[in-house]
Amino acid sequence: MLRAIDRLDVAGKRVFIRVDFNVPLAEGRVTDDARIRAALPTVRWALDHGAKVIVASHLGRPKGPDPKLSLEPAGMRLSELLDRDVVLADDCVGDGVKKLVFDLREGKLLLLENLRFHPEEEENAPAFAQALASLCDVYVNDAFGTAHRAHASTVGMARLVPERAAGFLMQKELAYLGKVLKDPEKPFVALLGGAKVSDKIKVLDQLVGRVDALLVGGAMAYTFLRAGGVAVGKSRVEETKIAVAAGLLDRARKLGVRLILPLDHVAAADPAAPAVAVSGSAVPEGLAGFDIGPRTIEAFSAEIARARTVFWNGPLGLFEEERFSAGTFAIARALAGCAGTTIVGGGDSAAAVARAGLVEKMSHVSTGGGASLEFLEGRELPGVKALES
Ligand code: 3PG
Repeated sequence: MLRAIDRLDVAGKRVFIRVDFNVPLAEGRVTDDARIRAALPTVRWALDHGAKVIVASHLGRPKGPDPKLSLEPAGMRLSELLDRDVVLADDCVGDGVKKLVFDLREGKLLLLENLRFHPEEEENAPAFAQALASLCDVYVNDAFGTAHRAHASTVGMARLVPERAAGFLMQKELAYLGKVLKDPEKPFVALLGGAKVSDKIKVLDQLVGRVDALLVGGAMAYTFLRAGGVAVGKSRVEETKIAVAAGLLDRARKLGVRLILPLDHVAAADPAAPAVAVSGSAVPEGLAGFDIGPRTIEAFSAEIARARTVFWNGPLGLFEEERFSAGTFAIARALAGCAGTTIVGGGDSAAAVARAGLVEKMSHVSTGGGASLEFLEGRELPGVKALES
C-alpha cells in the first residue's frame, strides 16, 4: 500500500519532494515544462500546509558537475509557475545545503542542484542516500518518470526517512496506467508505434491478451508486415524480431483480437527524399514507409472512436518531419475526440500530443517514457516499491 501525501501532517516539517525535472533545455531555458507543471499540485500542497519544502531532481546524464545541466532554468520556471521565490542550492548535499535547510521557514521552497552531479546518486551509494535522508523528516516521491531507476534519491533514501509518501502525480500515473493493466473499460484499444519492436515486445505481450483491438504503426509495423508475408521495400525491419512478431500475430488471431497493421503508407526513398503515397499495404521496391496513409488513419480512428479505453504509445511515423507527421497528428486528434478514457504514454507520443496542442483533451498524458513502458510490461518499479509501507 502506498501512503498518499495528503494523509500526512507536514506542518513545520522538512519535506523532501523527489520530482522529475529532467526537462529539455535550449539556451538556458526550459523548452517543455510539462514535467514541472505536473509536479505543481504536490509542491503547492506541501507549501500550503506549512511544510519546509526541499525539491530535488536529476537532469540529463552528467558525469560529475556540469553547469549546462544545472537545475537553475527548471528552478526559474518553477518560480514563475508557483509565483513564489525558489532558492537554488549550489549542491544537493554538504554543509552549505544543510545550512540552507536549517534556515528554511514554513511555506518556503529550496531546490537542490542536480542530484546526478554526484555519481553516488546513480550508484545508490548508502552514504549519499543517508546524506540526502538527513536533510528531511518526510520523503515524498512524485518522480514517476524516474521510478524505474533504483537510485539513491528514488530508493536508497526512502527507508531512511521516518515518513514517506507518494505525491499526487505519482498516484495519478499509477492509477491511470494501472487501469490499463487491470480493469480497462471495454472496448479497449491499444495503439503502439515507434521505431523498434524490441522496445515494445513485452508491452505488446502484456496487452495482446487484454485488448479488443491492437493497432500497430510506426517503423515497428514493418517488422510485423514482413512477418505476415507482406513486401515492405526498404522499410526498416528488425530481422531478429520477425519470429516474435509472427508469434504475436498468431496469438492475436487465436485470441480473436483485431490486430490492425498499416493498410497504406507515406513512403520515400529515404527520409530526405520526396514523399510518395503508397495505396496498399505492400511497399514497393526502393521505397521505405515513414508514415501511415489515409486509409490506415481512417481505420485506426474508427477503432478509437468506438473505444471506452485507449492507450497510445509511440508515434505512427517520422513525425519530426512535417511530410511524415500527418498520421501521428491525425491519431492525436482521434484520441482527442474519443469519449472514453484516453491514456498517452510518455516520451515521443506525449511530445506529439503537446505539439498538436491536445494535452488538455486527453484523460492522462504520462510524464514517464521508460517508466510507463516498464510499468506496462508488468514490472515492479523500484521507486514505487521503495515507497510501500
Ligand atoms: C526520463 O526522462 O526517462 C527519466 O527522467 C529518467 O532519465 P534517465 O533515462 O536518464 O534515467
